[in-house]
Amino acid sequence: MKELTTDIAAKIIDGKKVSLFIQDELKKQVEEIKSNGGKVPHLCAILVGNDGGSETYVAAKIKACENIGYKSSMYRFDDKVTEADLIKKVDEINNDSDIDGLIVQLPLPKHIDVDKVTNYIKPEKDVDGFHPVNLGKLLLGLPTYVSATPFGIMQLLRFYNIETAGKHCVVLGRSNIVGTPLSILMSRNRDPGNATVTLCHSKTKKLKEITLQADIIIAALGIPEFLKGDMVKEGAVIIDVGTTRVPATDTKSGWRLKGDVDFDAVAPKASFITPVPGGVGPMTIAGLLANTMKSAKKEIYK
Ligand code: GUN
Repeated sequence: MKELTTDIAAKIIDGKKVSLFIQDELKKQVEEIKSNGGKVPHLCAILVGNDGGSETYVAAKIKACENIGYKSSMYRFDDKVTEADLIKKVDEINNDSDIDGLIVQLPLPKHIDVDKVTNYIKPEKDVDGFHPVNLGKLLLGLPTYVSATPFGIMQLLRFYNIETAGKHCVVLGRSNIVGTPLSILMSRNRDPGNATVTLCHSKTKKLKEITLQADIIIAALGIPEFLKGDMVKEGAVIIDVGTTRVPATDTKSGWRLKGDVDFDAVAPKASFITPVPGGVGPMTIAGLLANTMKSAKKEIYK
């Protein structure tokens, strides 16, 4: 799995392959747990409303659980559900000793306070790593559940042996679940890590001057094809977190996923690049499953 590149032609990072490798490792751990009569990890998902993306993502998470031998459960609510009813369900799951991990799929309908609901999940079961306690631990470098996308990116850098120490990493986007935790993970004294990080956002001036200095660019803004060829230096590592659905006439669904990187223009200059789909996306499932295993084994909270 550890591959090195010697030429400048972009190497496509295969997130699907790495994700399946990690899932296979987790499957072996489940088999070992079962043969020792231990407790099989159990992931529970709450899905609210009929958002197409959320339906697909939750179905993929449940299917991955089945594939590797985890228990899974799902609770569905229609989009008129009250905050109180949702919190009641979270409370019930918090107190169900069989369930190791709980995710409330986002986005939630506008009338529901997302922070209130996610903050209600016990940190011990917050395998999304969204709870302030878990994000606080990440900030301090303590063991915690790293949320799925940052986890996935760090694993891709590790699997492809991409040097990060002393490199200039430019993160585009400062969201709580991607850009901000990534800026912390890339700068801390670990491997991967030890990068000099610049976190850019909507108020950043002279962005192109900054991206042109980057050895590693992580694009997580949610703006399709934002990063153009003339914004990237030769040999840069490009990680594309974007997954915007754009209308398409040549697909059955009527849409296709677009990343934040203009792939055709950037790939010829990059040393490594993640495609969309098939790059960071599949890794998020591996992250969630890895956190659920950590919870079942009580590795973070004893
Ligand atoms: N919506 C988009 N990504 C995620 C995720 O990683 N977790 C949850 N709970 N909702 C999401």
